[in-house]
Amino acid sequence: MVRIPEATVDDIRQNTDIVDVVSQYLQLRKSGQNHFAHCPFHEDNTPSFSVNDQKQIFYCFSCGRGGNVFNFLREIEGLTYPEAIIKTAELTNYPLDQSMVAQVMNQPHYEDSTTGKLYAMNTLAKSFYHHILMNTPLGKPALDYLLNRGLTKETLEEFELGFSPPQRNALFLYLKSQKDTDFEMEHYQNSGLFSQNDQPETQEFLDRFSNRIMFPIHNERGNAIGFSGRIFEEKKDSFPTAKYLNTPETSLFNKSSIIYNFDKAKSAIRRENEAMLFEGYMDVISAWQAGVKNGIASMGTSLTEDQIKRLDRFTDQVVLAFDGDDAGSEAIQRSAHYLTENTHFNVEVVTFPSGLDPDDYIQKHGANEFKEFLTHGRDTYMGFLMQYYRRDRNLANETEQIEYIDNILQELTKVDSLVEREIYLSQLADEFHVSLDTLKTQFETVMSESQARQLDELKQQQRSMRNEVPTVQVSHENKQKFTLVEQAERMLLNRLFYYEEAWLLLNKIDPAFEFVSEDYQLIYILFESYRETDFENTDTEGFLDYLQEDHLKKKVAEIFLIDLGDLVETEIKDYIHVINNVSPVKEAISQKTEALKEAQRAGNTSEQAALAIEIINLNKKLKNEITE
Ligand code: UTP
Ligand code: MN
Repeated sequence: MVRIPEATVDDIRQNTDIVDVVSQYLQLRKSGQNHFAHCPFHEDNTPSFSVNDQKQIFYCFSCGRGGNVFNFLREIEGLTYPEAIIKTAELTNYPLDQSMVAQVMNQPHYEDSTTGKLYAMNTLAKSFYHHILMNTPLGKPALDYLLNRGLTKETLEEFELGFSPPQRNALFLYLKSQKDTDFEMEHYQNSGLFSQNDQPETQEFLDRFSNRIMFPIHNERGNAIGFSGRIFEEKKDSFPTAKYLNTPETSLFNKSSIIYNFDKAKSAIRRENEAMLFEGYMDVISAWQAGVKNGIASMGTSLTEDQIKRLDRFTDQVVLAFDGDDAGSEAIQRSAHYLTENTHFNVEVVTFPSGLDPDDYIQKHGANEFKEFLTHGRDTYMGFLMQYYRRDRNLANETEQIEYIDNILQELTKVDSLVEREIYLSQLADEFHVSLDTLKTQFETVMSESQARQLDELKQQQRSMRNEVPTVQVSHENKQKFTLVEQAERMLLNRLFYYEEAWLLLNKIDPAFEFVSEDYQLIYILFESYRETDFENTDTEGFLDYLQEDHLKKKVAEIFLIDLGDLVETEIKDYIHVINNVSPVKEAISQKTEALKEAQRAGNTSEQAALAIEIINLNKKLKNEITE
């Protein structure tokens, strides 16, 4: 294992301002000590996500995620820990030894875990298929076909396209022959690359893909996780099968969250603040070859919420670039409708001439005209709808005209821009020879009807919400409730994190002190050993990197953020007092209460009386201790 030296990690962190880094992803608003934003990690209606300047950490009051700049990059970019450190160095222009970077980035992350094996299998399969396509007679017809379609060898290399040979055990034998890695039954079974043979006892597997052009699919980090195989020269006597066959759902391959080419496109998407969504892999690849680097595709389905969230971290503009045929227009309508109704993405549409998908268009007109068309052939979603509602309508017919105008007016109620509305109303007026005033009056009616409908829906929602059991919401205003003891424990930890003096006081008052909660006790012990290993450099925030457990990190980040002002001398004594005394009393009360119930069941009256008196006294004691 190659590791980044501790000292370098510390140095990178200290050289970085978390606010600068987070600002590259989110719009932060400063309020007091903290900067706030909507949390990027979940649906967040109020800005619950905070970044603290002084402590250099982030924390979401709603979902509880928190940590330092490395943790932030891990979550938001889906990076491993060493990758996050390197990314931070890049973002802040911290000079890193590039050969070390290369080594860290290339080492397999979980060599021996099942996940690691599945990644390894997919990577080996990818290079196997790729080799067959590029260098063997078996792959030659498929290679010729792809070159004929205008793809260059460099492009085939870039996207690592491949070919699965017709023999149904080629990949299986190849993987079995690997000397450095031995794969087990379960790995073959769970990889999605095979189907089980009829005789499972033989421990033989059949390749899932055969005689197909292989498109490797990568996750956001660029690891191979599966394939889509395009049919190639179907044999006459075989059953007709799907044009594209995908890896089935596996622990790595989750169709609804995959965005094809996202690993390569994401930096261009951020740079250009725009993602170009195509329908097919071939469109993405051809567009890339034509110089359009921000192209992505879903796996042949409409965008899912999960995919939208991933995109959201990089841009707020999506351009749908689909074939203008019926299927394409329906797909545009579905996706654009969903995006405009449910997200804040700005949606634009490029409709290609019917029957030409973007790839066909490039073939026919060349790269330059294609890029021209992407820039100048765009329309707003509303502009697209003006065309869309014309399909299958004869606008010479008056009834159909009226229906059409009504459709458009309905859609216009969702357009916020007054200028845009005015433009479309004028277009309608011109085309159908209606006065603009009449149209505007009509629009007002449609608009107020639609508002009335929305109001109804809202009321309905509120009614059903009132009937629901209220759920606990943890938000900035409505923080988590802690017991008195827990509160004291958290405050004491906060002091221990930041004040040397707190340690001296604690040792003086109660050298044998222990926290009641196991987690807090663990944090306490770990922090103590962290201080010892790194004494002259007690950088409190570095503790987050020292911790392994995510749930402890969250708690610590939360405690970092408690703002207690300057340390008051008596404070530590008070915390210790509450922790040591209130909690044992409480425990005694609950024990005695249990015993009392037992005595009642047994009908033991004298014991009942004795216990009742004890409980009353304990309660008094508890009250005194809290108010003392
Ligand atoms: P298309 O049929 O338009 O294929 O499907 P294509 O991408 O243009 O490929 P070529 O040009 O014929 O080689 C568009 C997308 O729909 C999904 C795939 O993601 C494909 O890229 N699809 C299509 C499937 O998942 N399964 C299918 O059987 C067909
Ligand atoms: Mn195509």
